[in-house]
Amino acid sequence: MVKKILKKGFIDVVVGLQWGDEGKGKNIDQLLSSRIYSGVARFQGGANAGHTLKYGDTTFIGHIVPSGCLQKGTELYIGNGVVVDAVSLIAEISQLKSLGFDVKPRLYISNRAKLVSYLHPFLDQAEEYSRSKSGTKVGTTAKGIGPSYADSRARRGLLIGDILLLDFNKQKSDLLDFQMNFLKMYKEKYNFQYSIKKINEAKKKWEDALKKLKKLQICDVSSLTQKRLKEGKNILAEGAQGVMLDIDFGDYPNVTSSNTLPANVCLGLGVPHTYLQNIYGVIKAYTTKVGGGSFPARIKDETLEKLFQKAGQEFGATTGRPRMCGWLDLFALRYAITLSGANKIFINKADICLSNKIKVVTGYKHQGKVLKEFPLQLSQVMSVQTEEMPGWGEANFGVNNKQKVSKELSAYLKYIKNKLSDLNVKIISVGTGPDREQFFNWDK
Ligand code: GDP
Ligand code: IMO
Ligand code: MG
Repeated sequence: MVKKILKKGFIDVVVGLQWGDEGKGKNIDQLLSSRIYSGVARFQGGANAGHTLKYGDTTFIGHIVPSGCLQKGTELYIGNGVVVDAVSLIAEISQLKSLGFDVKPRLYISNRAKLVSYLHPFLDQAEEYSRSKSGTKVGTTAKGIGPSYADSRARRGLLIGDILLLDFNKQKSDLLDFQMNFLKMYKEKYNFQYSIKKINEAKKKWEDALKKLKKLQICDVSSLTQKRLKEGKNILAEGAQGVMLDIDFGDYPNVTSSNTLPANVCLGLGVPHTYLQNIYGVIKAYTTKVGGGSFPARIKDETLEKLFQKAGQEFGATTGRPRMCGWLDLFALRYAITLSGANKIFINKADICLSNKIKVVTGYKHQGKVLKEFPLQLSQVMSVQTEEMPGWGEANFGVNNKQKVSKELSAYLKYIKNKLSDLNVKIISVGTGPDREQFFNWDK
């Protein structure tokens, strides 16, 4: 007989519904202020993420430490599904300390999480270099994400828990030998050049970081989070990237190397699906994308795209690269909502609207025909169907009261809600600036 799980606490999930950088960090911080969650957990990805938290004059960009770091008392979990860049982790912990947040006592790292090696970023660059010859660069963040997940899936990778084992040095040197040979292959076959000096510098930083990592709370995060849930505590699972970058359902191969969908919370944390409750999906009022691959909703007017980039500060939080800007893509959004099961939506950057008229993408076309289903590859999209409506200029910056919203933005929100009405989603909150306080509740 199957034993019934005693469900007490629950897990809510926050995921990006576009191509990442939707403002997830800010919304997580916002949700935590309700004090209903006792912890925040990362379940996938690694230091490719860049989640901006802004309060007053302080801005903190978290890459690997969960976004609950600025909420004192909130536990922070790094689940088994995460690829951990030890150097980034240690640097962030010390940056947070200098900001007055000592996260060490409340940070728990899964012993089953994957350890990124100092050679992984070099392998990432080598792979990109080999692709550049055929024009198929993914435009990765160069944080070693793909090679780390590849080693994990090939069952030769290192786990965080391994660093505490007696034979770690042997395991480590076997893997590093393998990786170095791999790097040499890229040199021989593709003429990829790497600097031994840079590798040695990276090695030193990594070894130093590992010594510090060993002293952190490395444990069975699956059992710890389940214990908390059984105590009646709730957890917020923090997605990185976005649905359109999911390894299985995004625009492969222009994707990241993990499953970004909420379904992966169970596997990336080690919790049964019965605990999942709300799925919060985050979008921008428009769309951005950084990296390779097609972007059907991209704004065609270059000057206007640049204006969006400038006003929205659309430069990657991890790499500083300019993000391409596009109109809100309702066709991709419907796909993302359907896959993720999002039931509550945050819309950010509603303060960024520069033209008198704005467009919304409602469909994709291939050889003159409107596509009924989301295509296998976005490069198959030859043109898009759009609808046009009035813009609202800078009217809504900082507005935190629904009554003060301009009539154009109000009409835009109603239009979006209407277009998604069959999907049972609520637009709960609309962001009007980067600060914690700059939002208004919309569809309670
Ligand atoms: P994440 O990766 O989804 O957490 O998002 P990022 O932090 O990479 O990028 C979102 C950017 O938008 C950050 O610079 C935020 O400070 C900023 N941001 C978030 N919400 C808003 C908003 O409503 N308006 C404006 N102007 N900026 C916002
Ligand atoms: P957050 O969590 C936006 C993109 C990269 C590249 C592709 C693969 O801040 O939303 P990777 O380094 O993961 O192998 O790169 O995915 N990418 C992101 N784009 N936001 C992110 O994270 C991203 N993480 C990866 O630009 O196109
Ligand atoms: Mg980001």
